[in-house]
Amino acid sequence: MATAKLILEGKEHELPVYVGTENEVGIDITELRNKTGAITLDSGYANTGACFSNITYIDGEKGILRYRGYPVDQLAEHAKFTEVAHLLMYGELPSLQQLLKFREELTYHSMLHEDMNKFFEGFPRGAHPMAILSAMVASLSTYYPESDERRDMIRLLAKAKTIAAFAYKKSVGQPFMYPRNELSYCGNILHMMFGVPCEAYHVDPVLEDAMHVLLILHADHEQNCSTSTVRMVGSSGANLYASISAGICALWGPLHGGANQAVIEMLQQIHSDGGDVSKYVAMAKDKTSSFRLSGFGHRVYKNFDPRAKILRKTCDNVLARLGIHDPLLDIAKKLEEIALRDEYFIERKLYPNVDFYSGIIYKAMGIPADMFTVMFALGRLPGWIAHWKELREEKPRINRPRQIYRGENVREFVPIEKRG
Ligand code: CMC
Repeated sequence: MATAKLILEGKEHELPVYVGTENEVGIDITELRNKTGAITLDSGYANTGACFSNITYIDGEKGILRYRGYPVDQLAEHAKFTEVAHLLMYGELPSLQQLLKFREELTYHSMLHEDMNKFFEGFPRGAHPMAILSAMVASLSTYYPESDERRDMIRLLAKAKTIAAFAYKKSVGQPFMYPRNELSYCGNILHMMFGVPCEAYHVDPVLEDAMHVLLILHADHEQNCSTSTVRMVGSSGANLYASISAGICALWGPLHGGANQAVIEMLQQIHSDGGDVSKYVAMAKDKTSSFRLSGFGHRVYKNFDPRAKILRKTCDNVLARLGIHDPLLDIAKKLEEIALRDEYFIERKLYPNVDFYSGIIYKAMGIPADMFTVMFALGRLPGWIAHWKELREEKPRINRPRQIYRGENVREFVPIEKRG
C-alpha cells in the first residue's frame, strides 16, 4: 500500500494512501490526531473524503457523471426513472421481472395514510412546499415506527411524490388527486398535480418523458451538501425518514437545489428590467455586490456540467414540442453566451449547471417556481436512499468533525453587578 509522509514540527509521520477504482487518491488521516495531536482544516470540505462509496463517480475536470458505472447520458436517453432508482438503491439495473416487482411495490405503497391528509390542512396556504415535504417525510416515521428498512425505502420513494403533489394541490386550493396504479412514477406525478376530479386527465407523453430525464439527471451526485447531510444524520443511527427529511432541508438552500427557483426568478427579474443581460453579468462580477449568476458554477465541475448539456437539449425539445416560446429561454441563452466569453467566468471555470435549464422546463410544464426544488428532491431520493443504505451496511462511526477554537481563553465569571 502506498503511503504519504507528513512532517510536523520536524517529526515525520507516515499516512496510508487509498486509491479508488478511477485512480482517485485519498490520504487516510484517521490516526492523525492520535499520532500527532493535530487535525486537518478544510473549510467547506472541498478536499475531504468522508467515506468510501460504490454509488456514483464524478470527474469534474472531464465532465463525467456515472451511476454505478453507467454514464448519465446513456441512462437519461434509454432508461426510465424507476430503473435508475433500482440501479442506485440495489446496485444493478433491474431485469424485466425485477422491474415489474419494483414498480408493483412502488404502486402498492404510493397512497398516504388518510390521517396524514389532516396535516396539509394545518399548513398556511403560502407555505413553501419544501417545508411541507420535509415535515411530512419526517412524520412518516410516526406512521411506520417498526423499522423495516427495506420496506421503508420503498415506502418513502413511493409516497414522496404523493406528498409533493398534495403540497402543490394545497397551494392552489384544489382537491387532492390520488395516484393511479396504471400510470408510471412520472406519469403519476403529473396526474396528481394537474388532474382534477371533474374531468379525465391524459398524461402528455412529452411531459412524462421530460420528467423522466429531469429526475434521472438529479438522481445522485455523490457527497454533495444534502447527501452528506443524510449521511451525517444517518450516522447517529437516525431512521431513514429523519435522515432524508434533513437532506431535503439542506437541498432547499439557494446555493444547492434551491438554485433552480433562484434561476427562474433571476431570469424574470432580467426580463422585467428590460432584458439587459450584460448589466447582470457585470453585477455578478462586482465584488462589492452580493449578486451571483444563479445556475452558474459548481464545486466539482470545472469544465462543464454534463447534466446541463443534456437539459439544454431537453429544454429546446420540450418547448418546441409544446409550441411554447418563452422569452426567458432567450435571456438564458444570451446570458450563457455572454458569460462563457467573459474572462471572469473563464478564469474561475464557471459554467451553467443543472439548475440553469431545469427551471425553464418545469415552467413550460406548468409547475410553479416554488415547486422546482421539490422536483429536484423527488429526483434525488434514490441517491439519498442509496447512500443511507450504504452507510447502514458499513456500520459507521458517528460523524463528528473537529474544530480549531478561536474564542476567548479561560476567564473568571463576573457577577452581574460588576459587569460595567
Ligand atoms: N456568479 C458569479 N461569481 C461566482 C459564481 C456565480 N454563480 N459562482 C462562483 N463565483 C465566483 C466566486 O465569487 C469566487 O470568486 P473569487 O475567487 O474572485 O472570490 C469563485 O467564483 C469561486 O467561487 P466559490 O464560491 O469559492 O465556489 P464554491 O465551489 O464554494 O461554490 C457554488 C460553488 C455552486 C455554490 C457557486 O458557484 C454558486 O454560488 N453558484 C450559484 C448557485 C448555484 O447555481 N448553485 C447550484 C449548484 S448545481 C446544483 C447542485 O448540485 O446543488
